[in-house]
Amino acid sequence: MYKITAKEQLAPGIFRMLIEAPRVAAKARPGHFVVLRTHEAGERIPLTIVSTTEAGEVEVIFQVMGKTTAYLAGMQVGDGLPTFLGPLGVAPEVPEGPGTVLCVAGGVGAAPILPRAKDYSQRGWKVLTILGARNEDLLILEDRLAEVSSALYISTDDGSKGHKGFVTDLIPELAQKEEISEVLAIGPVPMMAAVTKVTRKLALPTTVSLNALMVDGTGMCGACRVSVGGETKFTCVDGPEFDGHQVDFAQLRQRLVQYLEEEKLALDRYKKEGECQCLNG
Ligand code: NAD
Ligand code: FES
Repeated sequence: MYKITAKEQLAPGIFRMLIEAPRVAAKARPGHFVVLRTHEAGERIPLTIVSTTEAGEVEVIFQVMGKTTAYLAGMQVGDGLPTFLGPLGVAPEVPEGPGTVLCVAGGVGAAPILPRAKDYSQRGWKVLTILGARNEDLLILEDRLAEVSSALYISTDDGSKGHKGFVTDLIPELAQKEEISEVLAIGPVPMMAAVTKVTRKLALPTTVSLNALMVDGTGMCGACRVSVGGETKFTCVDGPEFDGHQVDFAQLRQRLVQYLEEEKLALDRYKKEGECQCLNG
């Protein structure tokens, strides 16, 4: 069993946990993810590795989206996970700087972007970060992103903090002021699609991290297939990061919508059964 050693609620429906998994922690690099199960009969879900500790713990951050994440949010320090497989995926190589990367994080996308922004910063890059959420209460990791960024720009849809509007609104002005070498965008699919629309016009190379549906996480089931540059790729073994200008977002959205609808129904049933203790925040 992989023991939960810390748990914290970062925002309504968003949780941070440390999991004791020394062998995963020893090999993890920025961009890697794990696949976990909450109990023997549970489904497998992928979560990005946010950081690791010297004690061999792995940090994960997740939003309650369906039954499995609701179950995980209801687990406590001391509980154990039967499956914690990783590190998985391709950890992208960051070339030595100088250079300027613009990191664009939407909502819980702040979690996977943090280790990547830190990696860029440690390799001598200037890191500019845009962090957006629906409202101030849903902004996460602001302090930790500020630590690794030369400048952090905040946007909220309702204007409760920073710029009122979407993260994409801030890109053109920043691109005029700064010599941006590349853009890394992580968040909901409509956001990543919108970022690539803006950066295509600005001729800025753009990487996105795709949260495709996954089952085994090792390239065997095909559940995570996406179309990139007209070729079928598996998010779990070829990604999760891809050239954003080559991704078929419409196809990805179609596949995810069906899954998310089923997840929502499962979560509603779970709440009705009275088992879900985790959504009070
Ligand atoms: P959200 O819907 O609250 O959006 C967060 C921010 O993204 C918004 O505040 C806005 O600035 C921007 N945004 C959203 N839609 C946009 C659009 N059409 N155009 C421009 N900007 C837009 O985000 P959330 O609730 O935190 O995210 C939920 C979704 O994100 C889930 O589907 C989850 O699976 C996904 N997600 C993806 C990743 C990943 O690795 N790509 C990581 C975590 C979560
Ligand atoms: Fe099965 Fe990627 S999750 S092939």
